[in-house]
Amino acid sequence: MTPLLELDDIHVHLGGRKRWFQPDIPPVKAVGGVTLTVAAGEILGLVGESGCGKTTLGRTVLGLQRETRGSIRLRGKTVSGARPRDARKLRRAIQYVHQDPGAALDPWWSIGHSLEEGLVITGHGERSRRREIIEQALAAVGLDPTAQRRYPHEFSGGQLRRIGLARILMLDPDIVILDEPTSGLDMSVQATVLNLLLEIRARRDLTYLFISHDLSVVRRLCDRVAVMYLGRIVELAPAASLFERALHPYAQALLAAAPRLEPGESRTIAIRGEPPSAARLPAGCLFAGRCPYAEPACRTEEQVLQAVAPGHEVACRRWREIAAGAPPTAAAA
Ligand SMILES: Nc1ncnc2c1ncn2[C@@H]1O[C@H](COP(=O)(O)OP(=O)(O)OP(=O)(O)O)[C@@H](O)[C@H]1O
Ligand code: SF4
Ligand SMILES: [Mg+2]
Repeated sequence: MTPLLELDDIHVHLGGRKRWFQPDIPPVKAVGGVTLTVAAGEILGLVGESGCGKTTLGRTVLGLQRETRGSIRLRGKTVSGARPRDARKLRRAIQYVHQDPGAALDPWWSIGHSLEEGLVITGHGERSRRREIIEQALAAVGLDPTAQRRYPHEFSGGQLRRIGLARILMLDPDIVILDEPTSGLDMSVQATVLNLLLEIRARRDLTYLFISHDLSVVRRLCDRVAVMYLGRIVELAPAASLFERALHPYAQALLAAAPRLEPGESRTIAIRGEPPSAARLPAGCLFAGRCPYAEPACRTEEQVLQAVAPGHEVACRRWREIAAGAPPTAAAA
């Protein structure tokens, strides 16, 4: 069966500029060769340290950011290579729930006005049917029709998330990119929002790309998880396998504390040092400078994902030895 979404060797370079009589500013290689398929109905988690390129990848899939290289197919049809305006049209079936739902709403407009504007801009729904579509979308996220007459400041964070979700449900998407959908919410509200996401997915047959720092939520919600480091996927596996036995040293460090995490609790990653600048990437394995298992060959051989079990891929030349209990190398001690 054709996968719903296919990313093939996606690269995204941001910024960078040529200057007169001064060294050029190199672009940031925010995404450096992501190949990934997403099946209809699945929830794919995207995790990794801040700045590893999760949002950039999400924006690129959406068509808001143009890919520098690589191709994107939606239901087998190529939708990449177009200018951002055309790319969004081709990818209407993909919608994005912003990390800060308040930012997507005009504070001076009633919720009804904002939602209606969303329909008008995207050319969804005839004028006579718009009220009905808005009411249905609000009801789908558990909000009363009277919410239309109120303004953003009159809602709590959890309610604003619901409105953000209603806003994209009206557009009848197939794939929803959820960028940190529960950050900043307290635990009980977070649980309600997650349950709502699951319920809507089941009812509407949706597919989610779920970007999150909260590993306990990712573990609970996602079918598969992609671990990103410096713009690349270093491990891709069914959530259960990954949380049970991550194989890539970076994924291991990232997930080490996760099984004991309570919902809503987040911890900083216990990895030494800082990642190298995405504008000046080193040769070889990008994690070598921080990896406790690094050997000289790791610094020269580029690592690409290789299948290690059905549905499980890892980009580490030493995964087998590490899984068998190899000790950390002297260089990292
Ligand atoms: N417009 C831009 N110009 C140049 N560099 C950018 C731009 N936007 C993002 N970046 C850089 O691209 C890289 C990836 O950023 P991105 O926002 O995708 O990361 P992220 O994984 O979503 O991080 P977070 O978890 O903090 O949201 C970072 O190094 C960031 O500084
Ligand atoms: S390839 Fe080498 S440096 Fe990279 S993660 Fe594996 S062991 Fe560490
Ligand atoms: Mg982000």
